[in-house]
Amino acid sequence: MKITFEKKPSQKPDTYVVFATEGGKLTPPAQELDKKTEGALKRAFGSEGFQGQKGKILTIPGPAGISAAHIVAVGLGKLVDLKASDFEKIGSSLVPELNARKAVTAQVIFGDSLKHMPEEEIVTRMASGMLLNSYRFDKYLTKEPKEKKPTLKSAEFIVDAAAAARKKFDTSRKVADAVFLVRDLVSEAPNVLYPESFANIIKRELSPLGIEVKILDRKDLKKLGMGALMSVGQGSVREEKLVTMHYKGGDKSQKNVAFVGKGVTFDTGGISLKPGPGMEDMKWDMAGAGVVTGLMKALASRQAKVNAVGVVALAENMPSGMASRPGDIVRSMSGQTVEILNTDAEGRLILCDALWYCQEKFKPSQIVDLATLTGAVIIALGHEYGAVFSNDEVLSRDLVSAGKEVSEELWPMPLNDAWDKAIDSPAADMKNISGGRDAGSAIGAHFLKRFIQKGVAWAHLDIAGVAWSAKDRPGVPKGASAFGVRLLDRYVAEFCEK
Ligand code: BES
Ligand code: MN
Ligand code: ZN
Repeated sequence: MKITFEKKPSQKPDTYVVFATEGGKLTPPAQELDKKTEGALKRAFGSEGFQGQKGKILTIPGPAGISAAHIVAVGLGKLVDLKASDFEKIGSSLVPELNARKAVTAQVIFGDSLKHMPEEEIVTRMASGMLLNSYRFDKYLTKEPKEKKPTLKSAEFIVDAAAAARKKFDTSRKVADAVFLVRDLVSEAPNVLYPESFANIIKRELSPLGIEVKILDRKDLKKLGMGALMSVGQGSVREEKLVTMHYKGGDKSQKNVAFVGKGVTFDTGGISLKPGPGMEDMKWDMAGAGVVTGLMKALASRQAKVNAVGVVALAENMPSGMASRPGDIVRSMSGQTVEILNTDAEGRLILCDALWYCQEKFKPSQIVDLATLTGAVIIALGHEYGAVFSNDEVLSRDLVSAGKEVSEELWPMPLNDAWDKAIDSPAADMKNISGGRDAGSAIGAHFLKRFIQKGVAWAHLDIAGVAWSAKDRPGVPKGASAFGVRLLDRYVAEFCEK
């Protein structure tokens, strides 16, 4: 979608978008439009009982006096109550409305003043919400009738601070492009996206941005001693890979911040096979790796002043004559041994080697890992929050705060020595499950924690509940959300860049 910002309209739109506050009070440009149409807006407000309530939309067919086909009036409620994220929600809600009205070119006239927020921030957030909600994964729909395709092609925002808005939105557009890459990856079919093809996409997408991309294959992993990661891939004919992405946007003295992602391109459970119904969902078990990839793209394309490392472990978890068995004992790169009691607890197995490698190779000051690690986190937090487990209160707090700003919310979860003990094994240094149902997500977190080196600040984000949405949400059409890209981009901007 084309999004532009102008002081004065550059063309006649087929649809106007105007705003009204509490009590149905029109903004100054909306009043002008009302005058031009001999009070058509105000009359419609009266007959429809529209009071400018926050989030409400009233669309009227093009009245006499103007050439547009529709005027869409959007309620803002009380101006003083509006947060930046509200404007994203409002922008997002315009997309289905405009498409339902068959709008092709929209002109959005905010034209009010808010004391607590600059105008360019308001329109950029609105535009960003619109853009994010315009995403579709439709490459395989060869027979979709034209009437079902979205019509909206462009939105022109009329704003005094047009130049400032353009500049600001340039960054939002780059982040949105990264979000779309992640949504494409997560939505992709698992016969098309598998470790090798995923690794190639990373190389193709990120190398041109100046990111150093390295792909390690089976013989490299074997040399490095990544027995845990390799045990997950060994049942599949598709070789597991580890991909590193290094972006050097900060100065040499700055330490790396690292992001590690779980990339199980399909999780059947392995020999501990999952039940059939719903198994297709497990194509998105690579969302953590997708988000790390997208984040690196966002940071590099907006030229963030940070040294950042992305590491993704890619494997397909399949049952076969070559697959690992419950009872197998493997040696991880760290030297610690793991008894695999459930081959479906595979995320922690691939991550423990990726985490260790990341620390050995890049010596980061902090690591955030992202993984669709446990079904249990959905029981705990549903689909409204990602879980954050951390050994560092500041890191955890900053992540939560960044998430709030972009409506990708995290909820802090506890660690406890008792849960660490629960994964001790009589046969090896640890087992990959506790054996009970208690605190399932924390058990996963504690497994990973055993692979975090001294002095490294670490946070584990369990995104199993938020990586995929069964319903439309603001800025997130149902399907792959890319939850984490905007959060971590914001986190880096606010807390890591110098
Ligand atoms: N990828 C799954 C977690 C998952 C389940 C994500 C449902 C989204 C929806 C993970 O690999 C897994 O299978 N976890 C097991 C762990 C258990 C065996 C300790 C789980 O949650 O059941
Ligand atoms: Mn699993
Ligand atoms: Zn999994």
